[in-house]
Amino acid sequence: GRTAALIPAAGSGTRLGLGPKAFVEVAGKSLLVRSVAALAPLVDEVLVALPEGSSLPEGLPARAILGGETRQDSVRRLLQATSADVVLVHDAARPFLPAHVVHALLEAIPETGAATVALPVADTLVRGEAGRWGGLVPRESLWAVQTPQGFRRELLLRAHAAARAEGFAATDDAGLVARLGLPVTLVPGDARLFKVTTPGDLALAQALARVWDA
Ligand code: C5P
Repeated sequence: GRTAALIPAAGSGTRLGLGPKAFVEVAGKSLLVRSVAALAPLVDEVLVALPEGSSLPEGLPARAILGGETRQDSVRRLLQATSADVVLVHDAARPFLPAHVVHALLEAIPETGAATVALPVADTLVRGEAGRWGGLVPRESLWAVQTPQGFRRELLLRAHAAARAEGFAATDDAGLVARLGLPVTLVPGDARLFKVTTPGDLALAQALARVWDA
């Protein structure tokens, strides 16, 4: 079957404060260009959801559609714009995507039809209560969820339709599938897949780009 990469890139980048985040450059290349470049060689097509009034850079091997109000809306539109059997949803805000992670994800999808990249949590975790230590959260079984996330397209369409019908909002797509009581496979991710959200993340990305692009 065919595989499509779906890249929600229609966010406004409010927390970074540099305009639409996907177009922010790290060492001369935008977050969006970096995400497309990582995925294009590994899939049959790449679709990108963009903010109103923007367009894809010339020559990028991807097709653009208009994004929605929320990330969830943008992904739903992307799902409707492809007929691929398998979709990989990846945030433009995670520009450093190693090929081995995509391969591992693609291998994991057939078993359950839904898989996400995630990292076992390394830090000590604690609940904050009014700025004070409110008690340890055992980290043994905890994973931090990243993207890409891979699905049989039909399954993710169904999960999105259910969430929409019930007014349920999530920050990712695997959560919508899990919410239906269906299994989602966890695939070990990579620290380099961190999401560029704050100015501190951007500084980290600039440092990493020097090694990544070398
Ligand atoms: O804001 P945050 O970093 O969590 O957004 C995750 C991803 O979802 C980003 O790549 C962003 O561009 C995308 N997004 C979108 N449409 C929106 C909001 C966010 O495609 N309306």
